[in-house]
Amino acid sequence: MLNENLVKEVLSTVTYPGFTKDIVTFGFVKSIDIDKDRVFVELDITSSAPEVAKQLRDEITKKLELKGAKEVSVAIKQPKMPRETSSRGKNIAPQIKNFVMVSSGKGGVGKSTTTVNLAIATAMQGKRVGILDADIYGPNIPRMMGIEGARPEVVGNKVKPIDAFGIEVMSMGVLMEEGQSLIWRGAMIMKAVEQFLRDILWSDLDILFIDMPPGTGDAQLTLAQSVPVTAGVTVTTPQMVSLDDSKRSLDMFKKLHIPVAGIIENMSGFICPKCGTESDIFGKGTAKEVALEYGVDVLGEIPIEPSVREGGDTGRPVVYYHPDSETAKRFHKAASNLLRFIDKVNEEGGVSNEEIQPTIGVSACSTSSNQGDSCGCNH
Ligand SMILES: Nc1ncnc2c1ncn2[C@@H]1O[C@H](COP(=O)(O)OP(=O)(O)OP(=O)(O)O)[C@@H](O)[C@H]1O
Ligand SMILES: [Mg+2]
Ligand SMILES: [Zn+2]
Repeated sequence: MLNENLVKEVLSTVTYPGFTKDIVTFGFVKSIDIDKDRVFVELDITSSAPEVAKQLRDEITKKLELKGAKEVSVAIKQPKMPRETSSRGKNIAPQIKNFVMVSSGKGGVGKSTTTVNLAIATAMQGKRVGILDADIYGPNIPRMMGIEGARPEVVGNKVKPIDAFGIEVMSMGVLMEEGQSLIWRGAMIMKAVEQFLRDILWSDLDILFIDMPPGTGDAQLTLAQSVPVTAGVTVTTPQMVSLDDSKRSLDMFKKLHIPVAGIIENMSGFICPKCGTESDIFGKGTAKEVALEYGVDVLGEIPIEPSVREGGDTGRPVVYYHPDSETAKRFHKAASNLLRFIDKVNEEGGVSNEEIQPTIGVSACSTSSNQGDSCGCNH
């Protein structure tokens, strides 16, 4: 005999294609109606590719028929036009105009460094900006923003973000005691992302930058279902392994219908701190091929510069403290490219790739900037 509990049980075995959690856990099941041996299921999915919808419909139908349903109807609410997601999707934090998801295929490539410096650059360019550190497993935004140990103010049952460099910041790192974040597992990551958006007192922001956990997991999907993500940014390093991983991140954006602003190639070349010249001993420029393959842009190429790491470790972001450094200039350029992309998405729900300006390059070793052999450079 078909009943709601049985149908729900069946739906709990249907995982969202490409992710590990099922559609009930994700909260996608809006209603279940049963009329003898006929079942009507309504799913509420605001961001999903048509092939995903078909896959879900087929699997649900097959599984319910095995349980005795004679007729199964699965209604899936989703936008007709992919781009509509960015302007008309559900928004559980409506005071925020744009959401930028900073993602990477693997960890350690400079996702947080990029988030922090891009955010500060856009703020310096006049935008009202926030950073949400959604990397609940390894929240490192507080250290990079110099607010480690700060405790946020609680107002009623909501929490105020912490201010740093004129930017609103929220992170699991300031909500929990040290070491505690290990208890966050599985389904909780989805709740956490949602609460970060709903229960934090964000102001009216132009842009909220979201530093995602590495990989392409459930947090990304939850986020895309909760707010209209205006732009996705993929961070990679020039090495092949990282580039391969960045493709997964780009695939994920595609699957979630998130407009891709482009790739940041981080640790791209090395700028000698002594003489200021650039060399590519660790590789650079390889993200271009991936960008070409995916029809997206390289938003910026950020060199390895010791002051970037120092800035991250000491809470003194390079864009703010060394505005004249080559790295800061590159981040500013990337920020301008990103802002132009966001405007385009909002204006027309799309963007043409030619609009993005190339990043500034540093001339190869020149005698005028070379202060001799003491720096150990090979030029
Ligand atoms: N362009 C750069 N030049 C020098 N050091 C850098 C640069 N980018 C990142 N780093 C350093 O590399 C380390 C990793 O960067 P970061 O923490 O931003 O990566 P992540 O992708 O957020 O890592 P995780 O996956 O652990 O969150 C940090 O110590 C950071 O300071
Ligand atoms: Mg990080
Ligand atoms: Zn040198």
